[in-house]
Amino acid sequence: MLDVRNYIASFSNYRNIMPKSTFIVRAPGRLSVMGGHVDYNGGPVLPIAIPLHIELHLEPHSGNTVELYAEEIDKHAQFSLDDLQHQHSWIDYVQGVAVELKELGIPLRGFRGVVKSTLPMAAGLSSSAALEVATALAFLHLANESLSPVETALLSQRAENKFVGVQCGILDQTAIAACIADHALLLYCNTMEFEQIPFDLKHHSMIVTYSGAPRELASSAYNDRRASCEKAVEILQNELPQISQLCDLNPDDLPLAEKVLSPLLYKRVRHVVTEIDRTKRAAIALKSNDLETLGKLIDQTHNSLRDDYEVSSKELNWLVDWARKQPGVLGSRLTGAGFGGCTVTLMEKEQIAPFMQSLPLEYKSFSGIDAECWEVNAVDGARVL
Ligand code: GLA
Repeated sequence: MLDVRNYIASFSNYRNIMPKSTFIVRAPGRLSVMGGHVDYNGGPVLPIAIPLHIELHLEPHSGNTVELYAEEIDKHAQFSLDDLQHQHSWIDYVQGVAVELKELGIPLRGFRGVVKSTLPMAAGLSSSAALEVATALAFLHLANESLSPVETALLSQRAENKFVGVQCGILDQTAIAACIADHALLLYCNTMEFEQIPFDLKHHSMIVTYSGAPRELASSAYNDRRASCEKAVEILQNELPQISQLCDLNPDDLPLAEKVLSPLLYKRVRHVVTEIDRTKRAAIALKSNDLETLGKLIDQTHNSLRDDYEVSSKELNWLVDWARKQPGVLGSRLTGAGFGGCTVTLMEKEQIAPFMQSLPLEYKSFSGIDAECWEVNAVDGARVL
């Protein structure tokens, strides 16, 4: 059997010898600026792609196996394209995509190579969706086929829902497949229509802070929130038979919802309905460069995710509360699914240096954990380089 580590050691030499057959696919992480937990309710989301990414450095071969070495975690995995069996590890994201491409009748070729990453795993910045979309682009490239960004996102989501078994929505994969540099993606998850909105924050920037805290119970709590939304729709349909998802409600329907739902289900619905409204207002604010309003909406989103949707954690709340007290900060919130992961803070560029200097020290004395901070801009989605 091929010793992948030796192979990796000689990979750059390989590339020099056979430059035509080697290729690189880059897929960025995504930052959810607005639209928390509304994608699976059909609402609008507003993400950007960020400069932290994964890269697949690949070389096709004539066999029917895929052999990958994930450099960051020092793990090797392989599978046969004729026998796609769960391995209950990171390689399942790759295999799941292969299954879905086969379903579409795309001919699959074997390859080997390295997964390189600057994107932290399990941090709420979508490293798994980045791996899925990058894999899809790699197989499509080798088959000389192409799919639209939305088709690529939908097949990557099916891979995660069906093969990996995680019931994620469509936000992450679409952001990674469809974002373009210097723009935020306003995506309507019920129709999959989208608009690219210029993302030029001028004297401000977005800071992503990774809490480093484990995302305990993240997937069961995520599935629980999804189930609550479906249950609420079922109950509300007795009064409002025309609705099929929570995005079909508007803020005027909340008093009725409060009457017919349990207090807990009502809080979940109130988050979703108000977040849909905030996301639409955030897109308008971004278009008119009204960053004060965007910052206020970001703050309101965090409060709603913390109090109504209950997906925050003590570390995320600390980071948000601390950020809000710093000079030049317009807004701060948890981003992604929650239950750990990252926050995002909109702030003046001039204040970033002292912010980044103090935060890790102060956070460590509160939590005992090392935080990481990145200033991010909006970059292109996944590409074969
Ligand atoms: C995770 C899921 C997305 C979305 C977000 C919350 O990232 O994968 O589909 O639901 O959480 O907005």
